[in-house]
Amino acid sequence: MSDKKDIDHITGVETTGHEWDGIKELNNPLPRWWLWTFYACVIWAVGYMIAYPAIPLLKEATPGLLGVTDRGNVAIEIANAKQAQKKFVDQIADKSLADIRKDQGLFQFAQAGGKAAFAINCIQCHGSGAQGSAGYPNLNDDDWIWGGDLEAIYTTIKHGIRFAGDDDTRVSDMPAFGKDEVLEKNQVQEVAAFVASLSGQEADAAKVKKGAVVYEENCAACHGEKGKGGREFGAPNLADAITFYGDKQEDFARQVNNPRHGVMPAWTGRLDDNTIKQLAIYVHALGGGE
Ligand code: HEC
Ligand code: HEC
Repeated sequence: MSDKKDIDHITGVETTGHEWDGIKELNNPLPRWWLWTFYACVIWAVGYMIAYPAIPLLKEATPGLLGVTDRGNVAIEIANAKQAQKKFVDQIADKSLADIRKDQGLFQFAQAGGKAAFAINCIQCHGSGAQGSAGYPNLNDDDWIWGGDLEAIYTTIKHGIRFAGDDDTRVSDMPAFGKDEVLEKNQVQEVAAFVASLSGQEADAAKVKKGAVVYEENCAACHGEKGKGGREFGAPNLADAITFYGDKQEDFARQVNNPRHGVMPAWTGRLDDNTIKQLAIYVHALGGGE
């Protein structure tokens, strides 16, 4: 490159002096608009670095004059969401379950809240779809051991079932007819056959006949004359085909011999009353509550 300015003779513009295969680069100035945008960006970047967290230091970035943090933003969003929910939460606290159920907006809110609380607290026993499993009742069907209206469900959730830590828990024990020798072995088999016949299963007719008498004397008080169940005793309906300890004759005989009893924890104390109300609304709506 020489000191002398090299002027392109076609355009009359000075070249940069760079040349490739006879092609020279013109030394045109940058377009004005481009240059100003560039300066504006630089100024913006400096301002940004002063105002917002920007330069990484050893432990954290420079905080910035405005004090903005992602963590802070999340906290603000949570506070806003809480504020928006407060309207509903307050109404749920004030209203009866029946009134919440009637109010479409509140009902939807409670149902969503109940669903979330159910996923955290209840699915380990009742299943993710509340379908239950052996020993844990299905909450989707319309078969209720302790009652399926809003208040009954609320009470069940609040105080639990046979839960030692709650004085108002639901209690009732089926006697151990076999183990405690209230019934003879053959009577146990007979009544089991009768129970099977209640839900339309095939069973030895002679046994069923004798079993009906055993049932009448020993079981009807809790499970009802026709086996339709007795909610005040938490005694399940035996005449539908829905069971949670098994639906075979031998399952019935086992229960009569030495009954199993389900335990469900009380939720008062662990969950606030508002959440329990939302859960009751949710569970009630699952299987078309009563
Ligand atoms: C540790 C296991 C367990 C957990 C957790 C649990 N349950 Fe239960 N639940 C049971 C059992 C067992 C029964 C049946 C008790 C019986 O034999 O009467 C039951 C019964 C019920 C019933 C009564 C059903 C009826 O037919 O009357 C309702 C309602 C219920 N649970 C709701 C809930 C809700 C809502 C939660 C979560 C907040 C929950 N359960 C958590 C074990 C559990
Ligand atoms: C004091 C009331 C009471 C009496 C009397 C009683 N039961 Fe029960 N029975 C219950 C209760 C409560 C349960 C539910 C246990 C549970 O929820 O875990 C039950 C459960 C059962 C079950 C299981 C149902 C299922 O869904 O798996 C069968 C079967 C049964 N009883 C049959 C009988 C027969 C037969 C007799 C008479 C010999 C009898 N019961 C007498 C209270 C009673």
